[in-house]
Amino acid sequence: MHTRSLLAILATAGSAVVEAQLNSLARAAGLEYFGTAIGGGQTGDSQYMSIASDTDEFGQLVPENGQKWESVQPNQGQFNYDSGDIVPNVAARNGQILRCHTLTWHSQLPRWVSSRSWSREELQSVIEVHIANVVGHYKGKCYHWDVVNEAAEEDGGWRGSVFYNTLGTDFLPISFNAAKAADPDAGLWYNDYNLEYNQEKTERALEIVQIFQDAGAPIDGVGFQGHLIVGTTPTRDQLADTLRRFTALGVDVAYTELDIRHASMPPSDQALATQGDDYANVVGSCLDVEDCVGVTVWGYTDKYSWVPGTFPGSGAALLWDENFNKKPAYTSVSSVLAAAATAAP
Ligand code: G3I
Repeated sequence: MHTRSLLAILATAGSAVVEAQLNSLARAAGLEYFGTAIGGGQTGDSQYMSIASDTDEFGQLVPENGQKWESVQPNQGQFNYDSGDIVPNVAARNGQILRCHTLTWHSQLPRWVSSRSWSREELQSVIEVHIANVVGHYKGKCYHWDVVNEAAEEDGGWRGSVFYNTLGTDFLPISFNAAKAADPDAGLWYNDYNLEYNQEKTERALEIVQIFQDAGAPIDGVGFQGHLIVGTTPTRDQLADTLRRFTALGVDVAYTELDIRHASMPPSDQALATQGDDYANVVGSCLDVEDCVGVTVWGYTDKYSWVPGTFPGSGAALLWDENFNKKPAYTSVSSVLAAAATAAP
């Protein structure tokens, strides 16, 4: 758990705070970081990297894809960290906090894992070998690991992954215990999307936390991915209430993959303003909850985003436009952070 007052570094003069940028403001307001994901393929774009490396804007980085199972262990026993190391190396050079993403996940999982049947013992060993190797490779570098990603379905059922189908819910503590053994100092997180709506999936995620705790497994936090849609984002109070359901269980929370997409393109001026309000509600809800430690956007410029490829016709989900101009949403986020920073003790 963090102590906001220890991190409130800029809350001296209101005028100085208002001129600061996202991460500086977030820290002044008591969060541990404001961060962004970076795709490994974007590191050759110097304009992109210069903003991503500006620690006044971003105090934390996470690789968008490079640490996923298909990248680091494409064939059984063959580990390769060429992609996975790209963003951690940038973060280390810049002195930015590193979130690491992700270990046990049904997606971007190579076919050697997903397309055959395993005995319980075999699959437990496969998970343990993967996690020991990957978490061991990054030992001492990851502030948080997203250990298990997206184990719940939209309707609150269990996702029918090879992990759940073979091991039931035992794959949850197996994964966390393996991560703890490999890096005792990393924060270990469960990460999922659409928890923000406080519906059946949220109930399942709360049960997941309790499964970890009942098994004595070391869970430190729950990541709210925050892949949201302009105009349908819950209010600041609703979001904060949902976050508090988790912190009441003794875990930290964070927004880990925030983007808020327009369902129709191009967005009108009104839609851009609504997007700003939605972003302010999300960031504001984190500020309102004592153990919400930070906010990470899933990329920061509309030049690079997974959204249009996955939801054709949707887009413009981020804080800077495709030409690196700050959007109204940037102003909304910086304003809500500045207000909290000015008010911080
Ligand atoms: O690297 C290959 C490239 O060689 C190939 O030419 C190209 C052709 O399609 O594909 C490239 O791989 C793509 C990869 O991103 C890297 O760009 C995959 O097709 C594409 O499916 C993959 O999408 C990623 C997605 O996870 C996969 O599920 C997105 O970039 C990434 O933003 C997204 O991130 C996830 C989080 O990890 C978990 N939460 C949801 C979030 C959004 O889906």
